[in-house]
Amino acid sequence: MNYSKLLNTYSRYSIEIAKGEGAYLYDTAGKKYLDFLCGIAVTSFGHNHPEISVAVKQQVEIFWHVSNLFASSPQENLAQKLSNLSGLEYVFFSNSGTESIEAAIKLARKWGQGRNEIISTLGGFHGRTYGSLSATGQYKFWEGFEPFVPGFTHVPYNDLDAVKNSINKNTVAVLIETIQGEGGVNLGSTEYLKGLRSLCTENNILLIIDEVQTGIGRTGKFYSYQHHGIIPDIVASAKGIANGLPLGATLCSKAVGDYIKPGNHGSTFGGNPIAIAAANKVVDLLDEKLLSKIEQYGNSLMNSIKELSLPSIKEIRGKGLIIGVEFVQGISCKEIAKKLIEEGVLVGTSGESVLRILPPFIITELEIKKFISALEKVVTEISKKKV
Ligand SMILES: Cc1ncc(COP(=O)(O)O)c(C=O)c1O
Repeated sequence: MNYSKLLNTYSRYSIEIAKGEGAYLYDTAGKKYLDFLCGIAVTSFGHNHPEISVAVKQQVEIFWHVSNLFASSPQENLAQKLSNLSGLEYVFFSNSGTESIEAAIKLARKWGQGRNEIISTLGGFHGRTYGSLSATGQYKFWEGFEPFVPGFTHVPYNDLDAVKNSINKNTVAVLIETIQGEGGVNLGSTEYLKGLRSLCTENNILLIIDEVQTGIGRTGKFYSYQHHGIIPDIVASAKGIANGLPLGATLCSKAVGDYIKPGNHGSTFGGNPIAIAAANKVVDLLDEKLLSKIEQYGNSLMNSIKELSLPSIKEIRGKGLIIGVEFVQGISCKEIAKKLIEEGVLVGTSGESVLRILPPFIITELEIKKFISALEKVVTEISKKKV
């Protein structure tokens, strides 16, 4: 397969996927893969999910697109459900994570009425467009793309004092992930996140949480900030919300949203009816029972990895079904991911040393066992070679 006409934006694996069914993908040669990557935290209900597929097929036969100039009950219904689930008032629908962050930045600046500086964190990742990239505190993504949008400061993660010391009279918001996914599955502590909430309130600053990777059930709560007993002012989400169809949702409090008037923001495709149909089903399926299964299976997966007691594993961290396995120096997680593909297992990576495991919510104990034995085999083989 020759990808020469595709812009060179991804280091692609050589396998080509031909179909998906449940927790599995199949390549063009018929080989089966256990999908513990889920399109990087997107297809959380697996592939070809019977109820989500029916919802999508039904909408495909009704209409594909109607301008946001017209009323839409499915959009209203989804917005109402997200509002109930988040504790926030308004929802803006877009098509991706980066757009949901762009909307968050615009909302914050509009609310700020002249205050425009946003504090985000080193190791954070918020997307590839100019606003979200300017907020991203990983400079490897910046190279060659200067100049950036002014008004962003990056401070160390999990360091409340660093945020405190960066606040000035122009600060309008703090933008944070509760778990830095792309940055290595680094967990923000409850103390830190609660501290940020208080700090923002005391200084009349907005707290924006990027739930693009961690939201929509991935951590065992509908939104990951709900583990920490806080409510942000703005939430950005996307990825898993429509199980693979492009949809972003930015939520905000009444105080923030009331500054927005027609014409201030918009999107031609945002809240596309087919994506909304999928998302309405995803949200309905994600009940308390499933959320506690996600938490329980996440713990079981993390414990099983710990029990392997592999010396080349430095640390295992995560929440629900977003798990990072950090390896000691000299062990490349990219090599491990490649070898796992040979064993019929797909996973992600974060940087050079962390394997990012993002299984679908429909997994079974059997699939956890399959994953664990493939991981044990691959890590043992690669570690032997390095000795
Ligand atoms: C936390 C976070 N924010 C934003 C984004 C950007 O999302 P998208 O690729 O849909 O634009 C990502 C993507 O990985 C992400 O993980």
